[in-house]
Amino acid sequence: MSKHTVTLIPGDGIGPEITTAMRRVVEATGVDIEWEVAEAGASVMPRYGTPLPPEVLDSIRRNKVAIKGPITTPVGTGFRSVNVSIRKELDLFACVRPAFSIAGSGARYDDVDLVIVRENTEDLYAGIEFEEGSEGARKLIDFAASEGAGVIRPDSGISLKPISIFCSRRIVRHAFEYALANGRKRVTAVHKANILKHSDGLFLRVAREVAAEYEGRGIEFEDYIVDATCMQLVLHPERWDVLVLPNLYGDIVSDLAAGLIGGLGIAPGANIGAECAVFEPVHGSAPRYAGKDMANPTAEILSAALMLKHLGEEVAAGRVLAAVRSVIGAGEQVTYDVKRSTTGSTDGAVGTRAYADAVIGAM
Ligand code: NAI
Repeated sequence: MSKHTVTLIPGDGIGPEITTAMRRVVEATGVDIEWEVAEAGASVMPRYGTPLPPEVLDSIRRNKVAIKGPITTPVGTGFRSVNVSIRKELDLFACVRPAFSIAGSGARYDDVDLVIVRENTEDLYAGIEFEEGSEGARKLIDFAASEGAGVIRPDSGISLKPISIFCSRRIVRHAFEYALANGRKRVTAVHKANILKHSDGLFLRVAREVAAEYEGRGIEFEDYIVDATCMQLVLHPERWDVLVLPNLYGDIVSDLAAGLIGGLGIAPGANIGAECAVFEPVHGSAPRYAGKDMANPTAEILSAALMLKHLGEEVAAGRVLAAVRSVIGAGEQVTYDVKRSTTGSTDGAVGTRAYADAVIGAM
């Protein structure tokens, strides 16, 4: 019997290519993993009538650990995002996205080492929306007026932003626990509480309460307004440590952080719940590059390193990271995006497969 069984979701667009590269790299570490391949996404819709067949969730529930490629969100079909569905169905409440500099990536900065901890289940991502002109929107507009809460124009579409004590508490606790487990020194709660008093204001209040629970354990706590955070991230990216954010700000600031370290091609992530964990890159399915053996699989490979750590395979995780650092640092066998960032041209770039070969060779 294999030591670990992991659900592998190849996904759409560049997903199958980058997950194949990832799988080869993980197998080269010698860690004994049985991959249970589960198909989800736009490509399975004709066959199953849904982009998320129930067997996929069953597989993750059974194995507790999954790694996936990106999945395209079909526009205008009425299907909600498979990624959001997986996170909600499995209650993967914490999205953890480390952003650290890799020498040779062509990033603007070389001293970034921060971690985004994003709440994954509520906020504007809860998907509670009222279409412009609908009965629901009209009722809500009337209700807001009758409560004296404010005037909403009658031709408005409305998305709700629920932020609860329960979800705020567990995500801030997760950030502190992460900080403690990973030798981090500071947790920053990011919000817009000065304007959004009842949603972000609540998040901040709860964050302060949780911070008080952790007092004296060597983790500093501070809070920051989200817009100021963005500016300070660009001005002084080296000052940040662990950032904990509600869902939407976490989404946006994750991409900002990916930009600081050289782009989406190298930014890994994890979605963690009480029972299951699903590892995936920050980026999407990049349909423009699908099937061209061009995409950078680093984000997927580093997501696998996070997964290996989660599985208790710390040595293998370290070897994968070191091999990636070595190949990108050497600058020879790198994909088009890194080549363009470092030289201004894609000349001499290698494909997804050749890059994975180089990483395997460096282990
Ligand atoms: P995207 O991340 O796919 O692409 C943004 C830009 O980054 C494009 O220029 C793309 O070519 C480039 N890029 C992304 N990954 C790359 C890689 N590994 N190597 C080199 N270049 C890379 O975002 P976009 O275009 O907004 O979304 C495309 C689709 O992906 C949409 O259907 C979206 O819903 C979905 N998506 C899925 C996610 C997931 O599965 N977790 C996350 C984000 C988007």
